[in-house]
Amino acid sequence: MRLRDRVAIVTGAGQGIGRAVALKFAQEGAWVAVAERNRETGRVVAEEMEKAGAEARFVPCDVADASTVNALVEKVIETWGRVDILVNNAGFDRPATLFRVTEEDWDAVLGVHLKGTLNGIRAVVPHMIRRGYGRIVNISSIYGRTGGIAAISYSAAKAGILGLTKAVAREVGKHGVLVNAVLPGLTRTPTIERMPAKYRDMIIQETPLGRMAEPEEIANVVAFLASEEASFMTGACVEVTGGWRM
Ligand SMILES: NC(=O)c1ccc[n+]([C@@H]2O[C@H](COP(=O)([O-])OP(=O)(O)OC[C@H]3O[C@@H](n4cnc5c(N)ncnc54)[C@H](O)[C@@H]3O)[C@@H](O)[C@H]2O)c1
Repeated sequence: MRLRDRVAIVTGAGQGIGRAVALKFAQEGAWVAVAERNRETGRVVAEEMEKAGAEARFVPCDVADASTVNALVEKVIETWGRVDILVNNAGFDRPATLFRVTEEDWDAVLGVHLKGTLNGIRAVVPHMIRRGYGRIVNISSIYGRTGGIAAISYSAAKAGILGLTKAVAREVGKHGVLVNAVLPGLTRTPTIERMPAKYRDMIIQETPLGRMAEPEEIANVVAFLASEEASFMTGACVEVTGGWRM
């Protein structure tokens, strides 16, 4: 119960890594806001957590829209009185090479990942500074460090999250707010399972651990970074890739 009575917001928690983080946080004793654009999956995950005896709420939100993110944070503070932890996880990709990426897709991918992360940070930081406590974990990707094939906007957005993480960590560290990033490698989520098997197999072949991650294996690292055990970590960018492109 490393997160006992901590209040956490997890964006994009309706499925995949976000869902695994929300469930892990609940197991560790946190009260969790499932912040999700998809009303159906968001509700299902929150209900699943409540049935298991956890304190959980579904709060609809589009992370790319600052007004809904601000409303989410206000709602959580109104419900539980505070926010201790924010996990910026929501996202999607619109794969494209350099000259095929449209301006609309570029804006959408940077909007959800980079602006979405900024929106989340800006919505919680004043509150966290006032309380002198906060943990922010931003979900980047190993592609943010290596670049990915046909992943122009996604790689740029995920690299941007690393710079943002470090810049914000510098600003808010003295107020007790710690900001870190996790860089997952290939992870078994509904989106990845829809990918052609040949692309997954190529990555798996190059992975020393010889498989992809389960979402719970990413969630374990996020929970550690959100806990007191990581009390001297800020601005860290932690790869969870099974050794792929180490
Ligand atoms: N799965 C992987 O292999 C992998 C690898 C590296 C990084 N990541 C990153 O991890 C995070 C989660 O990935 P995943 O595979 O679980 O994704 P996923 O597509 O399975 O789930 C993403 C969730 O985010 C939600 N979402 C999308 N846009 C949103 C918005 N604007 N506002 C609120 N919610 C929104 C979706 O509805 C969905 O529930 C993403 O940031 C992704 O880039 C994933």
